[in-house]
Amino acid sequence: MLENLEKIKAQFKEELNGVNMKDEIERIRVAFLGKKGLVTEALKDLRNLDVEAKKVAGQQVNLLKDEIEKAIVEFQKTLEEREYQKEIANTERYDFSIPSDVTVGTLHPITIVQSQIEDIFKTMGFIIEDGLEIQTEFNNFEGVNIPKNHPARDMTDTYYLENGQLLKTHTSAAQNTIMRKYGAPKPGEPLKVLFPGRCFRNENIDASHENTFFQLEGMMIGDDISISNLIYFMKVLLSEVFERDVKVRLRPGFFPFVEPGFELDINCAICGGSGCPTCKHSGWLELLPCGMIHPNVLRLGGIDPDKYTGFAFGLGLTRLAMMKYNIKDIRLFNSGNLKQLRQFTI
Ligand code: PHE
Repeated sequence: MLENLEKIKAQFKEELNGVNMKDEIERIRVAFLGKKGLVTEALKDLRNLDVEAKKVAGQQVNLLKDEIEKAIVEFQKTLEEREYQKEIANTERYDFSIPSDVTVGTLHPITIVQSQIEDIFKTMGFIIEDGLEIQTEFNNFEGVNIPKNHPARDMTDTYYLENGQLLKTHTSAAQNTIMRKYGAPKPGEPLKVLFPGRCFRNENIDASHENTFFQLEGMMIGDDISISNLIYFMKVLLSEVFERDVKVRLRPGFFPFVEPGFELDINCAICGGSGCPTCKHSGWLELLPCGMIHPNVLRLGGIDPDKYTGFAFGLGLTRLAMMKYNIKDIRLFNSGNLKQLRQFTI
């Protein structure tokens, strides 16, 4: 019996030495350890021995089995390493340190801030929606409770197309479409959507007014959404963006599509709240309008305002980028002045 084991061991070594490919190992494994393999058979043969001999031989067979198992694993690793080395040797090599004349682009400062905010909201379970730039008059105005002849239409005059459609004046133009797309939320699963976008208005352009600018709007609708939810999300957002623990306060503000509506201010980082020229000595900076979605807007979006409530906020993305990077002139963003635009990083 023991002699037989020596033979098996020698045979295994010989066969393993002849192996060059990974699949051949499997063949050897079956030949020795498989159901009818030599080692398995040897284990079966133990039956015919008497108790003492069985003990000794049993131990040896098991040792051999372990040895073969280990050798197979080791050999597999060796082969993999060999294949890897071969692959490396055959791969074309590049020298990445050679200077290149290809100019690499950079992200636009607005894109940087937008993706930073999207990332924050994605971790809080928000869906990101696109929203069209060309919108119907209904989506931009009536759908968000701004009827014809409402004074807000005058303040947000925009560019009209010949077919009666218009370039959206605010991201809120997507609210109705989004509500219809997702429908009423399931209990305990509020609808949480973030929709950034480029907006247009008829403006006299100067350092702080542009006809083309970016907003980023958010909306959360559910069976139990209150102003506390709004404050919570705004605090998380602003603390991340400004990299400090911001204090927020709400003042009443009017927008036809929210009721109640607010202007949200943050405490001034420059003076810490004691008052300075940046915050016009108030200690607070006006940052974003927000509020609880008006029942008419929910209703128009096909969501029952008696069952659901929601908040919405509209962040001036362009303005936020100006604050974050201390950019004094809004015209820079659309200027194509690469020398200036290339200098912003996250
Ligand atoms: N749509 C508003 C604007 O463009 C901003 C806003 C969004 C206000 C959502 C309240 C809630 O000025």
